[in-house]
Amino acid sequence: MTWLITGGAGYIGAHVVRSMTEAGEQAVVYDDLSTGIAARVPEGVPLVEGSTLDRAALDRAIAEHGVTGVVHLAAKKQVGESVEQPLRYYHENMEGLRTLLEAVVEGGVGSFVFSSSAAVYGMPDVDLVTEDTPCAPMNPYGETKLAGEWLVRAVGHTHGLATASLRYFNVAGAAAPELADTGVFNIVPMVFERLTAGEPPRIFGDDYATPDGTCVRDYIHVSDLADAHVVAARKLAQSPGKDLTLNIGRGEGVSVREMIDLINEITGYGIAPQVDPRRPGDPARVVAAADRISAELGWKARHDVRDMVTSAWAGWVRLHPEAARS
Ligand SMILES: NC(=O)c1ccc[n+]([C@@H]2O[C@H](COP(=O)([O-])OP(=O)(O)OC[C@H]3O[C@@H](n4cnc5c(N)ncnc54)[C@H](O)[C@@H]3O)[C@@H](O)[C@H]2O)c1
Repeated sequence: MTWLITGGAGYIGAHVVRSMTEAGEQAVVYDDLSTGIAARVPEGVPLVEGSTLDRAALDRAIAEHGVTGVVHLAAKKQVGESVEQPLRYYHENMEGLRTLLEAVVEGGVGSFVFSSSAAVYGMPDVDLVTEDTPCAPMNPYGETKLAGEWLVRAVGHTHGLATASLRYFNVAGAAAPELADTGVFNIVPMVFERLTAGEPPRIFGDDYATPDGTCVRDYIHVSDLADAHVVAARKLAQSPGKDLTLNIGRGEGVSVREMIDLINEITGYGIAPQVDPRRPGDPARVVAAADRISAELGWKARHDVRDMVTSAWAGWVRLHPEAARS
């Protein structure tokens, strides 16, 4: 098998490339480098610079590299930006996916793994979110992921493509400091940014119906997430016509306050958080039921939240050496 990894120069994509190649799979990265970094692509893995909106470039990449499977991570992913620029998000994420799927069908590719998100669930009112929990995304980003899943499944059924939509919960950590997330859109880097500026980390609302009043989320180490792609990809390669939708989480809730306490401990900063008003659209609790992926693929997360924060901090200090506390 040769796997085309779209978005393979991105934070998660680079980890997927690493896991796939370490597992002995052939990988080719396809990325427009809009948020990706070419240096994240390991030596020996070809990097094709192109957009998922460019059908001719996709056709060429699939033919020239003999691509037999695709892992599609390339997308725009900022929720707030998607509210401000819905047309751009639908264009990049939906039209990009549609164009890619056309090239996949024409090119005779047999397997397709799609990066989806827990954002498809919106504000679920359940203790553990199963894949059958009704989906009700709250923003254009989440909508493009849900509609993307529908398109992937429909094309799979009609054209005999084995497909998997992987719904990532809150991704954190790094397999190596140079692969760390360079964006500041998730809680871990946001807290790092505040602490290293000497400011208190922010908690948005501490009056939720949760044990300590702050929002509860399910965090997953990016290395575990990447390994889940390897097992999903291999399963599809052996199971023509397969159609999977799977949560990727740990099934364990961690509150915002617990996360900030842990980050304060690991970084050595120890700055007490400040409590600000709730943000609109933040659900109280979103924690995955992780049984289906374990039953279908035998996959289970291995890293805990401490590993995530420690490895993310090593990546942060690499970019901001002045942040380190000796
Ligand atoms: N980071 C998270 O917590 C999270 C959670 C759920 C789902 N996801 C999904 O995982 C995927 C990867 O996210 P990430 O965190 O690595 O983000 P990222 O921005 O680091 O990676 C996205 C990559 O895709 C490339 N790209 C974007 N648009 C493209 C296009 N039209 N054509 C070709 N390449 C394009 C970028 O250059 C970048 O390398 C996305 O689909 C995202 O929606 C991420």
